[in-house]
Amino acid sequence: MKLLLLNGPNLNLLGSREPEIYGAQTLDAIVADLVKLAVAHQIELIHLQSNHEGELIDRIHQSRSEGIRGLIINPGGLTHSSVSLRDAIAAVGIPTVEVHLSNVHARESFRHISYVSGVALGQISGFGAQGYELALEALRHHLDQQ
Ligand code: DQA
Repeated sequence: MKLLLLNGPNLNLLGSREPEIYGAQTLDAIVADLVKLAVAHQIELIHLQSNHEGELIDRIHQSRSEGIRGLIINPGGLTHSSVSLRDAIAAVGIPTVEVHLSNVHARESFRHISYVSGVALGQISGFGAQGYELALEALRHHLDQQ
């Protein structure tokens, strides 16, 4: 089974970016751990981080023809601004779990709104890097039941 992991703007800076909020782990380290978990469940995890909204949208469109069964996405700041990203997820209809390292609901009010949540199975927020593992488990469980 193939799953797609997308990380949006500024997440390439994890490790050095506001570590008191986002933790000290780099994105490479987080993804490496997640790939190990995926492999243990016979899952092929494809990862893309991009600072460009259009590149993320193109990747989502492409996933339909590649047999990707599920999407884990941390859209970064695009969470709170991108109707187009939401529309792309809705258009392909791939089961999606939204992840945030920080608890967006305990932060500034502009982070309380997510354009993605309405087209996702659910949102995991505030558990740091572990949130990606929780998302993988939730998605796996969802897809197993289909
Ligand atoms: C984030 C939360 C967003 O509000 C922020 O813009 C990010 C990271 C998180 O993982 O906590 O870039 O998605």
